[in-house]
Formats: sequence, structure tokens, C-alpha cells
Amino acid sequence: MYNSKITGLGYYVPDNIVTNDDLSKLMDTTDEWIQERTGIKERRWIKEGSDDSSAVMGAKAAKIAIERAGLTKDDIDFIVFATLSPDYYFPGCGVQIQDLLDMDTVGALDVRNQCSGFIYALSTADQFIKTGMYKNILIIGSEYHSNGLDKTTRGRGVTVIFGDGAGACVLSRSEDNSRGILSSHLHSEGKYADKLTVASPSIGNWVPAIIASNGEDISYFPYMDGTFVFKNAVVRFSEVIMEGLMTNGLNKEDIDLLIPHQANLRIAQFIQKKFGLRDDQVFNNIMKYGNTTAASVIIALTEAWEEGKVKDDDLIVLAAFGSGFTWGSVIIKW
Ligand code: UT7
Repeated sequence: MYNSKITGLGYYVPDNIVTNDDLSKLMDTTDEWIQERTGIKERRWIKEGSDDSSAVMGAKAAKIAIERAGLTKDDIDFIVFATLSPDYYFPGCGVQIQDLLDMDTVGALDVRNQCSGFIYALSTADQFIKTGMYKNILIIGSEYHSNGLDKTTRGRGVTVIFGDGAGACVLSRSEDNSRGILSSHLHSEGKYADKLTVASPSIGNWVPAIIASNGEDISYFPYMDGTFVFKNAVVRFSEVIMEGLMTNGLNKEDIDLLIPHQANLRIAQFIQKKFGLRDDQVFNNIMKYGNTTAASVIIALTEAWEEGKVKDDDLIVLAAFGSGFTWGSVIIKW
């Protein structure tokens, strides 16, 4: 069996910065409330008229990752794309990447696991590499949230936390079994699907229901039972990080850097405290980007790497929790 390691990282976020004060002009909210409850100071939202979309941003991040891997698009054997905000209801964004990057007719798979999307995508790619089926896989997490949010006071409990952006990495075959992805751990609990959801479009309730409701149906805006999600997040994050450590005979003292999904700074701080980690052992960038869902872990990993915080031989723990519920972790010896 082969091992797999990340050989290239890239990210792209739109230029347009939306501050908390900007949001307070659209809805009844304040910079103080948002910062205190979430840690977020600003986020990027695609500007009206821009050509950016989940696929286009993903392609921009992917180009950087492929170049940094020292490869070309022709070296990529397979694409895995994670998003909850695809350009089309179907087909998924993976095939658009094949086209946008002018790649050969390699396979393209879309992952629909929301905030855990990148973790699921990375784990899926890891299996294809370890079995020897593929050598270089392009993995993308990208989200265009801003166009689908309720920007009135009605939606303030959800809208203020989400941002747009994309991250990408190349996962490559390695013969060095001492490094790379050590293990990944994936979970779900579908009975809580309705706690964090966009209910429309669905084939069952889509167009007829929206038309019949004369604008009263808001099932196409994200709904979240925030407190319930928060309580589950802190438990599942801790569990799945411990699961990853224990599988590899490691303990919390072995962690060099934890990169949690950027859902809420208070969740990350809770996990940090629980695992007894110093500030420099947990990477957060939610202050700048908000919650970019499937893009969050890979944007954060890329930024951490660019800032020299991911070093050879470091034990890196990636973890995420979100809608589904789904959650997971990946343990990497860099
Ligand atoms: O990424 C996927 C996973 N997602 C998460 O992990 C998110 C988990 N949940 C959270 O991060 C938090 O629950 C939120 C940040 C979403 C909300 O924070 P909270 O402390 O749970 O607030 P709350 O929903 O309990 O609302 C408290 C109050 C309410 O007012 P009343 O009923 O007490 O009068 C809300 O209406 O704050 C109000 N509120 C706001 N006020 C100003 C809700 N949103 C806002 C807002 N600005 N943006």
C-alpha cells in the first residue's frame, strides 16, 4: 500500500471585504454582537457582477495548488470537489473544474458534506491514493454563500457568519510511509439534518411550493438551530480528534497544530482549552473570512502553511463538524 501526502496548497478569496458594520446597515445587528458571539470581524462576499462562483474560485485556488506541487494540470488523475453552494443544482462543480482547467477527461467527484466537506474529500482522495488507483488528486473546497443568504433581520442569526472563498490541495502518492495522512475518521447523524439546512431546492418541495407561498416560503435560505448545533459541535469535535489520536497511538501532547473548521471562534477556543493547547497550536482565521464551510479547513491549512506554521514532521490535526450532522478528522504527519 502507498501513502499519500499533500504536495501543493492554494486558496482564493474575493477582494470584496464586508465588515460587521456593513451588515448592520442591512439588518438589526452590531459589530459588538457578532464579534462577541462568533469572533468574526469581516468576511469576503463576491461582488455583484463578478464572474466568481464556487467553480471559478475553486479553479483559481486549484491552479495555485497544482503549481506549488510542481505539477501541471495534465498530471492530475482525479478531481474531488466539496461544496454546498454549487454553480448548478446538477451537475456538480467537479466537472466544471475539468473544463475550466482544460484537463483531460479525468474523473470528477462531488462531495456534499457541508462544513465537513473538505475532510470527507481529503479522506476519499486518500483511499484512492493508498490503493494505488491514482497518483495525484486535486481536492477543492469552495463556497459562494453570499448570494443565497437572507440579508434581512430575519436571517441575522445565520447570515452574519458565512463568507465566500475557496481552497485547494494536491494529494500525491508517496513511498515514504513515515509521513503523510496517517488516518481519517468520518461520521454522520442524519436525524439532525433539519437543524442546519437549506430545505429548497429539493425535488419534493421546490418550485411549486415556493410559487404557491407568494414569498412566505423561505426554505431556500439557510436555517440553523444555532445553540443546538453549537452544543453538538463541541462534543463531536473533541470526540473525533481523540479518535484520530488514539487510532495512531498518540495523545493530545503530540499535537503540533490543530486546524479546526472555522464555524465559531468560541467553538475553537473551547476545543483548545479541552485539549490544553497553546494559542500558537490552534490556527484560526474566522476573524477575516467568517465561516466558508467546505473551504474553511483548506483555506486555513494553506494560510498556516504560508505563514510557516506547518513544518516538516509536525503532527497536524484537521477537524470539522457541520450540517448533516457530519463530522470528521484527519491526522497528518507533515
Ligand atoms: O459551520 C457549521 C456548524 N455551525 C456552527 O457550529 C455554528 C454553531 N452556533 C453558533 O455559532 C451560535 O449559535 C451562533 C453564533 C449562530 C448564535 O449565537 P448564540 O449565542 O447561540 O445566539 P442565539 O441564537 O441564542 O441568539 C441570542 C439572541 C437572540 O435574541 P433573543 O431571542 O435573546 O432576544 C437572537 O435573536 O441574539 C439574537 N441574534 C442577534 N442579535 C444581533 C441572533 N443573531 C443576531 C445578530 N445580531 N446577528
